[in-house]
Amino acid sequence: MSKALSAPEGVTWKSRWTFILAATGSAVGLGNIWKFPYITGEYGGGAFVLVYLACILMIGIPVMIAEVMLGRAGRSDPADSMAKLAKESGRSRYWGVIGGVGMLAGLLIMMFYSVVAGWALEYVSQSIGGTYSNLDPAQIESNFSGLLASNSQQLLWHSVFCVLTAGVVAAGVTQGIGKAVDILMPMLFFFLLLLVGYSAVNGDFEAGLHFMFDTDFSRLNGEAILVAMGHAFFTLSLGMGAIMAYGAYFPGHSSIGKTVMTIAALDTIIALLAGMAMFPLVFANDLTPGQGPGLMFVTLPIAFSNMSGGIFFGTLFFTLVSIAALSSSISLIEPGVAWLEKHGVKRPVSTFGLAGIAWLGGIASIHYESVFNALDYLTANVMLPLGGLLIAVFVGWLMPSDRVLDETGILHAKVFKAWRFLLRYIAPLGIIAVFLHSLGLLGWLMRH
Ligand code: PHE
Repeated sequence: MSKALSAPEGVTWKSRWTFILAATGSAVGLGNIWKFPYITGEYGGGAFVLVYLACILMIGIPVMIAEVMLGRAGRSDPADSMAKLAKESGRSRYWGVIGGVGMLAGLLIMMFYSVVAGWALEYVSQSIGGTYSNLDPAQIESNFSGLLASNSQQLLWHSVFCVLTAGVVAAGVTQGIGKAVDILMPMLFFFLLLLVGYSAVNGDFEAGLHFMFDTDFSRLNGEAILVAMGHAFFTLSLGMGAIMAYGAYFPGHSSIGKTVMTIAALDTIIALLAGMAMFPLVFANDLTPGQGPGLMFVTLPIAFSNMSGGIFFGTLFFTLVSIAALSSSISLIEPGVAWLEKHGVKRPVSTFGLAGIAWLGGIASIHYESVFNALDYLTANVMLPLGGLLIAVFVGWLMPSDRVLDETGILHAKVFKAWRFLLRYIAPLGIIAVFLHSLGLLGWLMRH
Protein backbone atom coordinates (compact mmCIF):
# COMPACT_ATOMS: atom_id res chain seq x y z
CA MET A 1 0.00 0.00 0.00
CA SER A 2 1.14 3.52 -0.54
CA LYS A 3 3.10 5.41 2.02
CA ALA A 4 0.13 7.70 2.25
CA LEU A 5 -1.77 5.09 4.18
CA SER A 6 0.66 4.69 7.02
CA ALA A 7 -0.09 6.66 10.13
CA PRO A 8 2.55 8.62 11.98
CA GLU A 9 4.58 6.35 14.21
CA GLY A 10 3.07 5.73 17.59
CA VAL A 11 -0.26 7.39 16.83
CA THR A 12 -2.08 4.15 16.92
CA TRP A 13 -5.69 5.23 17.13
CA LYS A 14 -5.33 7.36 14.08
CA SER A 15 -4.00 4.48 12.11
CA ARG A 16 -6.79 2.19 13.26
CA TRP A 17 -9.30 4.76 12.12
CA THR A 18 -7.48 5.07 8.82
CA PHE A 19 -7.78 1.36 8.40
CA ILE A 20 -11.49 1.31 9.17
CA LEU A 21 -12.10 4.14 6.72
CA ALA A 22 -10.05 2.59 3.97
CA ALA A 23 -11.49 -0.88 4.44
CA THR A 24 -15.08 0.33 4.70
CA GLY A 25 -14.49 2.49 1.65
CA SER A 26 -13.28 -0.57 -0.20
CA ALA A 27 -16.09 -2.82 0.99
CA VAL A 28 -19.03 -0.47 0.52
CA GLY A 29 -19.55 0.18 -3.15
CA LEU A 30 -21.48 -0.92 -6.19
CA GLY A 31 -21.52 -4.41 -4.72
CA ASN A 32 -23.91 -3.21 -2.03
CA ILE A 33 -26.11 -0.77 -3.87
CA TRP A 34 -26.13 -2.11 -7.41
CA LYS A 35 -25.18 -5.77 -7.34
CA PHE A 36 -26.74 -7.09 -4.16
CA PRO A 37 -30.31 -5.98 -4.98
CA TYR A 38 -30.12 -7.13 -8.57
CA ILE A 39 -28.76 -10.62 -7.88
CA THR A 40 -31.23 -10.98 -5.01
CA GLY A 41 -33.90 -10.20 -7.58
CA GLU A 42 -32.49 -12.67 -10.08
CA TYR A 43 -32.05 -15.53 -7.65
CA GLY A 44 -35.46 -15.24 -6.07
CA GLY A 45 -35.19 -13.24 -2.83
CA GLY A 46 -35.30 -14.46 0.76
CA ALA A 47 -33.55 -17.81 0.59
CA PHE A 48 -30.74 -16.21 -1.41
CA VAL A 49 -30.41 -13.42 1.16
CA LEU A 50 -30.23 -15.97 3.95
CA VAL A 51 -27.46 -17.95 2.28
CA TYR A 52 -25.61 -14.71 1.61
CA LEU A 53 -25.86 -13.68 5.28
CA ALA A 54 -24.68 -17.12 6.41
CA CYS A 55 -21.69 -16.84 4.07
CA ILE A 56 -20.80 -13.39 5.45
CA LEU A 57 -20.95 -14.70 9.00
CA MET A 58 -19.32 -18.09 8.67
CA ILE A 59 -16.89 -17.57 5.81
CA GLY A 60 -16.50 -13.86 5.07
CA ILE A 61 -15.78 -12.54 8.55
CA PRO A 62 -13.29 -15.32 9.47
CA VAL A 63 -11.44 -14.88 6.17
CA MET A 64 -11.40 -11.10 6.61
CA ILE A 65 -9.78 -11.43 10.04
CA ALA A 66 -7.20 -13.75 8.47
CA GLU A 67 -6.49 -11.33 5.63
CA VAL A 68 -6.03 -8.32 7.91
CA MET A 69 -3.78 -10.43 10.13
CA LEU A 70 -1.64 -11.53 7.17
CA GLY A 71 -1.28 -7.93 6.04
CA ARG A 72 -0.30 -6.71 9.47
CA ALA A 73 2.11 -9.58 10.09
CA GLY A 74 3.69 -9.26 6.65
CA ARG A 75 3.73 -5.46 6.50
CA SER A 76 4.15 -5.46 2.75
CA ASP A 77 2.20 -5.85 -0.49
CA PRO A 78 0.06 -9.01 -0.61
CA ALA A 79 2.45 -11.10 -2.71
CA ASP A 80 5.45 -10.21 -0.60
CA SER A 81 3.60 -10.55 2.72
CA MET A 82 2.39 -14.02 1.86
CA ALA A 83 5.76 -15.17 0.57
CA LYS A 84 7.53 -13.85 3.64
CA LEU A 85 5.11 -15.44 6.11
CA ALA A 86 5.15 -18.74 4.22
CA LYS A 87 8.91 -18.87 4.44
CA GLU A 88 8.85 -18.02 8.13
CA SER A 89 6.42 -20.86 8.68
CA GLY A 90 8.67 -23.28 6.82
CA ARG A 91 6.46 -23.37 3.69
CA SER A 92 7.12 -22.63 0.07
CA ARG A 93 7.55 -19.03 -1.05
CA TYR A 94 5.09 -19.85 -3.83
CA TRP A 95 2.26 -19.01 -1.45
CA GLY A 96 3.05 -15.49 -2.58
CA VAL A 97 1.39 -16.37 -5.87
CA ILE A 98 -1.97 -15.89 -4.12
CA GLY A 99 -1.11 -12.22 -3.85
CA GLY A 100 -0.19 -12.10 -7.53
CA VAL A 101 -3.39 -13.78 -8.67
CA GLY A 102 -5.30 -11.39 -6.43
CA MET A 103 -3.82 -8.39 -8.22
CA LEU A 104 -4.98 -9.87 -11.50
CA ALA A 105 -8.45 -10.44 -10.05
CA GLY A 106 -8.57 -6.79 -9.02
CA LEU A 107 -7.76 -5.71 -12.54
CA LEU A 108 -10.37 -8.04 -14.03
CA ILE A 109 -13.02 -6.73 -11.61
CA MET A 110 -12.13 -3.18 -12.59
CA MET A 111 -12.90 -4.08 -16.22
CA PHE A 112 -16.62 -4.26 -15.53
CA TYR A 113 -16.80 -2.27 -12.30
CA SER A 114 -15.79 0.95 -13.99
CA VAL A 115 -18.45 0.43 -16.66
CA VAL A 116 -21.17 0.26 -14.00
CA ALA A 117 -19.61 3.19 -12.14
CA GLY A 118 -19.82 4.97 -15.50
CA TRP A 119 -23.57 4.33 -15.56
CA ALA A 120 -23.79 5.94 -12.12
CA LEU A 121 -21.93 8.99 -13.46
CA GLU A 122 -24.28 9.15 -16.45
CA TYR A 123 -27.17 9.20 -13.97
CA VAL A 124 -25.56 12.07 -12.09
CA SER A 125 -25.64 13.98 -15.33
CA GLN A 126 -29.19 12.84 -16.12
CA SER A 127 -30.31 13.86 -12.64
CA ILE A 128 -28.85 17.33 -13.03
CA GLY A 129 -30.49 17.66 -16.42
CA GLY A 130 -33.84 16.43 -15.07
CA THR A 131 -33.86 13.84 -17.86
CA TYR A 132 -35.99 11.28 -16.06
CA SER A 133 -38.02 13.60 -13.87
CA ASN A 134 -41.03 13.70 -16.20
CA LEU A 135 -40.96 10.11 -17.35
CA ASP A 136 -43.28 7.32 -16.28
CA PRO A 137 -41.83 4.00 -15.02
CA ALA A 138 -41.97 2.34 -18.45
CA GLN A 139 -40.13 5.24 -20.04
CA ILE A 140 -37.58 5.21 -17.24
CA GLU A 141 -36.96 1.56 -18.02
CA SER A 142 -36.39 2.17 -21.70
CA ASN A 143 -34.23 5.14 -20.83
CA PHE A 144 -31.79 2.74 -19.17
CA SER A 145 -31.90 0.32 -22.10
CA GLY A 146 -31.04 3.31 -24.25
CA LEU A 147 -27.85 3.82 -22.26
CA LEU A 148 -26.92 0.15 -22.66
CA ALA A 149 -27.42 0.49 -26.39
CA SER A 150 -25.14 3.51 -26.61
CA ASN A 151 -21.52 2.40 -26.66
CA SER A 152 -20.20 5.91 -27.02
CA GLN A 153 -22.11 7.18 -23.98
CA GLN A 154 -20.87 4.28 -21.89
CA LEU A 155 -17.34 4.71 -23.16
CA LEU A 156 -17.32 8.37 -22.18
CA TRP A 157 -18.27 7.76 -18.55
CA HIS A 158 -16.23 4.60 -18.22
CA SER A 159 -13.20 6.60 -19.34
CA VAL A 160 -13.98 9.39 -16.89
CA PHE A 161 -14.21 6.87 -14.06
CA CYS A 162 -10.91 5.19 -14.99
CA VAL A 163 -9.16 8.55 -15.03
CA LEU A 164 -10.67 9.50 -11.66
CA THR A 165 -9.54 6.21 -10.12
CA ALA A 166 -6.05 6.51 -11.55
CA GLY A 167 -5.83 10.12 -10.41
CA VAL A 168 -6.62 9.23 -6.82
CA VAL A 169 -4.30 6.23 -6.73
CA ALA A 170 -1.47 8.18 -8.34
CA ALA A 171 -1.82 10.92 -5.72
CA GLY A 172 -1.78 8.46 -2.82
CA VAL A 173 -4.82 6.90 -1.34
CA THR A 174 -5.72 8.61 1.93
CA GLN A 175 -4.89 12.17 1.06
CA GLY A 176 -8.11 12.83 -0.74
CA ILE A 177 -10.38 9.90 -0.57
CA GLY A 178 -9.67 8.88 3.01
CA LYS A 179 -10.98 12.19 4.28
CA ALA A 180 -13.82 12.36 1.82
CA VAL A 181 -15.08 8.93 2.78
CA ASP A 182 -15.27 10.08 6.39
CA ILE A 183 -18.13 12.46 5.58
CA LEU A 184 -19.58 10.81 2.51
CA MET A 185 -20.23 7.34 3.86
CA PRO A 186 -22.53 8.59 6.63
CA MET A 187 -24.26 10.74 4.02
CA LEU A 188 -24.79 7.74 1.77
CA PHE A 189 -26.21 5.87 4.72
CA PHE A 190 -28.55 8.73 5.51
CA PHE A 191 -29.77 8.91 1.93
CA LEU A 192 -30.43 5.21 1.81
CA LEU A 193 -32.56 5.57 4.92
CA LEU A 194 -34.42 8.40 3.25
CA LEU A 195 -35.08 6.25 0.19
CA VAL A 196 -36.25 3.36 2.33
CA GLY A 197 -38.65 5.80 3.98
CA TYR A 198 -39.87 6.92 0.57
CA SER A 199 -40.31 3.31 -0.50
CA ALA A 200 -42.22 2.51 2.67
CA VAL A 201 -44.68 5.30 1.97
CA ASN A 202 -44.98 5.10 -1.80
CA GLY A 203 -43.97 1.59 -2.71
CA ASP A 204 -45.39 -1.78 -1.87
CA PHE A 205 -43.26 -2.12 1.24
CA GLU A 206 -44.85 -5.31 2.42
CA ALA A 207 -44.32 -7.11 -0.85
CA GLY A 208 -40.74 -5.84 -0.88
CA LEU A 209 -40.01 -7.16 2.59
CA HIS A 210 -41.70 -10.47 1.85
CA PHE A 211 -39.59 -10.86 -1.24
CA MET A 212 -36.37 -10.13 0.62
CA PHE A 213 -37.01 -12.05 3.79
CA ASP A 214 -39.44 -14.91 3.09
CA THR A 215 -37.31 -17.96 2.59
CA ASP A 216 -38.56 -20.16 -0.19
CA PHE A 217 -35.84 -22.75 -0.58
CA SER A 218 -37.41 -24.28 -3.65
CA ARG A 219 -35.99 -21.35 -5.62
CA LEU A 220 -32.46 -22.04 -4.49
CA ASN A 221 -30.23 -24.02 -6.84
CA GLY A 222 -26.51 -24.70 -6.95
CA GLU A 223 -25.79 -21.63 -8.97
CA ALA A 224 -27.71 -19.35 -6.60
CA ILE A 225 -25.70 -20.66 -3.67
CA LEU A 226 -22.45 -20.14 -5.54
CA VAL A 227 -23.45 -16.58 -6.44
CA ALA A 228 -24.46 -15.83 -2.82
CA MET A 229 -21.10 -17.06 -1.57
CA GLY A 230 -19.20 -15.27 -4.33
CA HIS A 231 -20.99 -12.08 -3.47
CA ALA A 232 -20.03 -12.38 0.20
CA PHE A 233 -16.39 -12.26 -0.96
CA PHE A 234 -17.02 -9.52 -3.49
CA THR A 235 -18.88 -7.22 -1.15
CA LEU A 236 -16.29 -7.52 1.63
CA SER A 237 -13.43 -7.10 -0.90
CA LEU A 238 -11.95 -10.45 0.10
CA GLY A 239 -9.81 -13.05 -1.58
CA MET A 240 -7.78 -10.68 -3.75
CA GLY A 241 -5.44 -8.88 -1.38
CA ALA A 242 -7.10 -5.47 -1.07
CA ILE A 243 -7.89 -5.95 2.59
CA MET A 244 -4.48 -7.56 3.13
CA ALA A 245 -2.80 -4.54 1.58
CA TYR A 246 -4.77 -2.18 3.82
CA GLY A 247 -4.08 -4.43 6.80
CA ALA A 248 -0.38 -3.72 6.43
CA TYR A 249 -1.06 -0.42 8.18
CA PHE A 250 -3.14 -1.78 10.97
CA PRO A 251 -1.58 -0.71 14.27
CA GLY A 252 0.56 -3.03 16.32
CA HIS A 253 -1.50 -4.72 18.95
CA SER A 254 -5.09 -3.69 18.78
CA SER A 255 -7.41 -6.60 18.19
CA ILE A 256 -8.53 -7.26 14.65
CA GLY A 257 -11.78 -9.04 15.47
CA LYS A 258 -13.98 -6.13 16.52
CA THR A 259 -12.82 -3.91 13.72
CA VAL A 260 -13.66 -6.54 11.13
CA MET A 261 -17.10 -7.10 12.68
CA THR A 262 -17.80 -3.36 12.44
CA ILE A 263 -16.85 -3.23 8.77
CA ALA A 264 -18.85 -6.34 7.92
CA ALA A 265 -21.90 -5.05 9.81
CA LEU A 266 -21.82 -1.69 8.03
CA ASP A 267 -21.41 -3.38 4.69
CA THR A 268 -24.32 -5.75 5.29
CA ILE A 269 -26.66 -3.06 6.62
CA ILE A 270 -26.02 -0.88 3.58
CA ALA A 271 -26.77 -3.75 1.21
CA LEU A 272 -30.00 -4.63 3.01
CA LEU A 273 -31.10 -0.99 3.02
CA ALA A 274 -30.44 -0.76 -0.70
CA GLY A 275 -32.67 -3.77 -1.25
CA MET A 276 -35.36 -2.32 0.99
CA ALA A 277 -35.27 0.90 -1.00
CA MET A 278 -35.64 -0.85 -4.35
CA PHE A 279 -37.93 -3.87 -4.08
CA PRO A 280 -41.03 -2.03 -2.79
CA LEU A 281 -40.78 0.17 -5.90
CA VAL A 282 -40.38 -2.88 -8.09
CA PHE A 283 -43.65 -4.33 -6.86
CA ALA A 284 -45.56 -1.06 -6.81
CA ASN A 285 -44.64 -0.31 -10.42
CA ASP A 286 -45.07 -3.73 -11.99
CA LEU A 287 -41.39 -4.12 -12.69
CA THR A 288 -39.70 -7.50 -12.52
CA PRO A 289 -37.34 -8.15 -9.60
CA GLY A 290 -35.17 -10.29 -11.85
CA GLN A 291 -34.59 -7.68 -14.54
CA GLY A 292 -30.83 -7.75 -13.97
CA PRO A 293 -28.14 -5.08 -13.80
CA GLY A 294 -30.56 -2.26 -14.57
CA LEU A 295 -32.52 -2.67 -11.34
CA MET A 296 -31.01 0.25 -9.46
CA PHE A 297 -31.00 2.51 -12.51
CA VAL A 298 -34.70 1.93 -13.04
CA THR A 299 -36.13 1.84 -9.52
CA LEU A 300 -34.34 4.82 -8.02
CA PRO A 301 -35.13 7.27 -10.83
CA ILE A 302 -38.78 6.24 -10.40
CA ALA A 303 -38.53 7.33 -6.77
CA PHE A 304 -36.73 10.55 -7.62
CA SER A 305 -39.10 11.43 -10.45
CA ASN A 306 -41.98 11.41 -7.98
CA MET A 307 -40.27 13.19 -5.10
CA SER A 308 -40.40 16.87 -4.54
CA GLY A 309 -36.81 17.97 -4.80
CA GLY A 310 -36.15 14.83 -6.80
CA ILE A 311 -33.64 16.49 -9.09
CA PHE A 312 -31.60 17.57 -6.10
CA PHE A 313 -31.88 14.27 -4.25
CA GLY A 314 -31.22 12.23 -7.38
CA THR A 315 -28.11 14.21 -8.19
CA LEU A 316 -26.79 13.90 -4.69
CA PHE A 317 -27.56 10.21 -4.42
CA PHE A 318 -25.95 9.16 -7.69
CA THR A 319 -22.95 11.33 -6.79
CA LEU A 320 -22.62 9.47 -3.50
CA VAL A 321 -22.90 6.12 -5.28
CA SER A 322 -20.15 7.20 -7.69
CA ILE A 323 -17.92 8.19 -4.79
CA ALA A 324 -18.59 4.89 -3.03
CA ALA A 325 -17.60 3.19 -6.28
CA LEU A 326 -14.42 5.26 -6.43
CA SER A 327 -13.37 4.37 -2.89
CA SER A 328 -13.74 0.71 -3.91
CA SER A 329 -12.11 0.93 -7.32
CA ILE A 330 -8.94 2.43 -5.91
CA SER A 331 -8.53 -0.70 -3.81
CA LEU A 332 -8.89 -2.80 -6.95
CA ILE A 333 -5.75 -1.43 -8.55
CA GLU A 334 -3.79 -0.28 -5.51
CA PRO A 335 -2.34 -3.73 -4.66
CA GLY A 336 -0.92 -4.07 -8.18
CA VAL A 337 0.43 -0.54 -8.08
CA ALA A 338 2.08 -1.10 -4.71
CA TRP A 339 3.67 -4.28 -6.00
CA LEU A 340 5.01 -2.65 -9.15
CA GLU A 341 6.24 0.30 -7.13
CA LYS A 342 8.25 -2.08 -5.01
CA HIS A 343 9.81 -3.48 -8.16
CA GLY A 344 10.99 -0.07 -9.21
CA VAL A 345 8.13 1.18 -11.37
CA LYS A 346 7.19 4.75 -10.51
CA ARG A 347 3.73 5.16 -9.01
CA PRO A 348 2.21 7.39 -11.71
CA VAL A 349 3.51 5.07 -14.43
CA SER A 350 2.21 1.89 -12.83
CA THR A 351 -1.10 3.52 -11.94
CA PHE A 352 -1.85 4.76 -15.41
CA GLY A 353 -0.48 1.55 -16.90
CA LEU A 354 -2.80 -0.67 -14.88
CA ALA A 355 -5.77 1.69 -15.22
CA GLY A 356 -5.09 1.70 -18.96
CA ILE A 357 -5.29 -2.08 -19.12
CA ALA A 358 -8.53 -2.02 -17.12
CA TRP A 359 -9.83 0.69 -19.44
CA LEU A 360 -9.20 -1.49 -22.50
CA GLY A 361 -10.89 -4.43 -20.83
CA GLY A 362 -13.80 -2.15 -19.98
CA ILE A 363 -14.24 -1.31 -23.64
CA ALA A 364 -14.63 -5.01 -24.32
CA SER A 365 -17.29 -5.27 -21.58
CA ILE A 366 -19.14 -2.33 -23.08
CA HIS A 367 -19.23 -3.93 -26.50
CA TYR A 368 -19.92 -7.50 -25.47
CA GLU A 369 -22.35 -8.30 -22.72
CA SER A 370 -20.84 -11.78 -22.61
CA VAL A 371 -17.45 -10.32 -21.66
CA PHE A 372 -19.07 -8.22 -18.93
CA ASN A 373 -20.87 -11.25 -17.54
CA ALA A 374 -17.88 -13.56 -17.82
CA LEU A 375 -15.60 -11.13 -15.94
CA ASP A 376 -18.19 -10.69 -13.21
CA TYR A 377 -18.79 -14.43 -12.90
CA LEU A 378 -15.16 -15.52 -13.06
CA THR A 379 -13.91 -13.03 -10.48
CA ALA A 380 -16.71 -13.09 -7.91
CA ASN A 381 -17.67 -16.74 -8.12
CA VAL A 382 -14.36 -18.41 -8.84
CA MET A 383 -11.25 -16.30 -8.21
CA LEU A 384 -12.26 -14.60 -4.96
CA PRO A 385 -13.61 -17.72 -3.21
CA LEU A 386 -10.54 -19.65 -4.36
CA GLY A 387 -8.27 -16.94 -2.96
CA GLY A 388 -10.28 -17.03 0.26
CA LEU A 389 -9.99 -20.80 0.44
CA LEU A 390 -6.21 -20.69 0.14
CA ILE A 391 -5.95 -17.90 2.70
CA ALA A 392 -8.10 -19.90 5.14
CA VAL A 393 -5.99 -23.01 4.64
CA PHE A 394 -2.76 -21.07 4.99
CA VAL A 395 -3.71 -19.28 8.21
CA GLY A 396 -5.78 -22.13 9.63
CA TRP A 397 -3.45 -25.02 8.92
CA LEU A 398 0.01 -23.91 7.89
CA MET A 399 0.93 -21.00 10.13
CA PRO A 400 1.99 -21.98 13.67
CA SER A 401 -1.00 -21.39 15.93
CA ASP A 402 0.86 -19.43 18.61
CA ARG A 403 2.03 -17.04 15.91
CA VAL A 404 -1.53 -16.69 14.66
CA LEU A 405 -2.80 -16.08 18.20
CA ASP A 406 -0.17 -13.44 18.74
CA GLU A 407 -0.76 -11.69 15.42
CA THR A 408 -4.55 -11.46 15.60
CA GLY A 409 -4.46 -9.89 19.05
CA ILE A 410 -7.73 -11.63 19.93
CA LEU A 411 -7.75 -11.70 23.72
CA HIS A 412 -10.62 -14.00 24.57
CA ALA A 413 -9.58 -17.62 24.29
CA LYS A 414 -13.11 -18.67 23.37
CA VAL A 415 -13.43 -16.12 20.59
CA PHE A 416 -10.06 -17.16 19.21
CA LYS A 417 -11.06 -20.79 19.28
CA ALA A 418 -14.36 -20.14 17.55
CA TRP A 419 -12.67 -18.06 14.85
CA ARG A 420 -10.01 -20.70 14.32
CA PHE A 421 -12.63 -23.41 14.02
CA LEU A 422 -14.53 -21.45 11.40
CA LEU A 423 -11.32 -20.77 9.52
CA ARG A 424 -9.95 -24.31 9.63
CA TYR A 425 -13.12 -26.27 8.98
CA ILE A 426 -16.23 -24.31 8.11
CA ALA A 427 -14.75 -21.84 5.62
CA PRO A 428 -12.67 -24.29 3.54
CA LEU A 429 -15.25 -27.06 3.60
CA GLY A 430 -18.04 -24.58 2.93
CA ILE A 431 -16.25 -23.13 -0.08
CA ILE A 432 -15.37 -26.56 -1.46
CA ALA A 433 -18.91 -27.83 -0.89
CA VAL A 434 -20.41 -24.85 -2.71
CA PHE A 435 -18.00 -25.34 -5.63
CA LEU A 436 -18.84 -29.02 -5.88
CA HIS A 437 -22.54 -28.38 -5.46
CA SER A 438 -22.64 -25.76 -8.19
CA LEU A 439 -20.80 -28.14 -10.50
CA GLY A 440 -23.40 -30.76 -9.70
CA LEU A 441 -20.68 -33.00 -8.31
CA LEU A 442 -21.96 -33.12 -4.78
CA GLY A 443 -25.26 -34.63 -5.85
CA TRP A 444 -23.43 -37.11 -8.01
CA LEU A 445 -21.10 -38.11 -5.17
CA MET A 446 -24.02 -38.57 -2.82
CA ARG A 447 -25.80 -40.79 -5.27
CA HIS A 448 -22.75 -43.04 -5.76
N1 PHE B 1 -16.39 -4.54 -2.26
C1 PHE B 1 -16.56 -3.72 -3.42
C2 PHE B 1 -18.05 -3.47 -3.60
O1 PHE B 1 -18.86 -4.11 -2.95
C3 PHE B 1 -15.95 -4.32 -4.65
C4 PHE B 1 -14.56 -4.81 -4.46
C5 PHE B 1 -14.26 -6.15 -4.60
C6 PHE B 1 -13.54 -3.92 -4.13
C7 PHE B 1 -12.98 -6.63 -4.40
C8 PHE B 1 -12.25 -4.39 -3.90
C9 PHE B 1 -11.98 -5.73 -4.03
O2 PHE B 1 -18.45 -2.68 -4.40
